[in-house]
Amino acid sequence: MPFLYLAQRQNSNWIPLAAMKYIAKYLSMPYISVYEVATFYTMYNLAPVGKHFIQVCTTTPCLLRGADKIVNLCKEKISPNENEISKKGNCSWMEVECLGACVSAPMIQINDNYYEDLDEKSTVEILDSLIKDKPLKPGSYRGRKNTAPEKEQKVKANGEKHA
Ligand code: FES
Repeated sequence: MPFLYLAQRQNSNWIPLAAMKYIAKYLSMPYISVYEVATFYTMYNLAPVGKHFIQVCTTTPCLLRGADKIVNLCKEKISPNENEISKKGNCSWMEVECLGACVSAPMIQINDNYYEDLDEKSTVEILDSLIKDKPLKPGSYRGRKNTAPEKEQKVKANGEKHA
């Protein structure tokens, strides 16, 4: 798995068959074993992806909070189909399962970074900037620090919380 990860890093974020065959030979294992691992995990891209690779979480918490709108924006602005490079050649997108940031739903991952607490307006800004090759900063788009509440809460002596 680390070899597959390295191969992907060294090849514009995707793994060609030749790399899988090389890894199998290097590890003295059947090629099909490497292929099985590479095709099992969605973090391995088996075809070219955009320089800006957008993964949209559409598992239940994100979907309940509007991930379907983010998918529609990707279709409109990047490409009508998943895993298809944009006309300008610098972006692609795909739907993925939970990325472990449900508390900041809905969210997307762009290359190595998480963009969280999104809505249609912030997603449009993020996608438009990506198309122009000017990625915006990652993190919460509701101004939260990590997963902290939006407004700082103070705890009263009796344990009750108030804003
Ligand atoms: S459901 Fe989207 S990050 Fe978990």
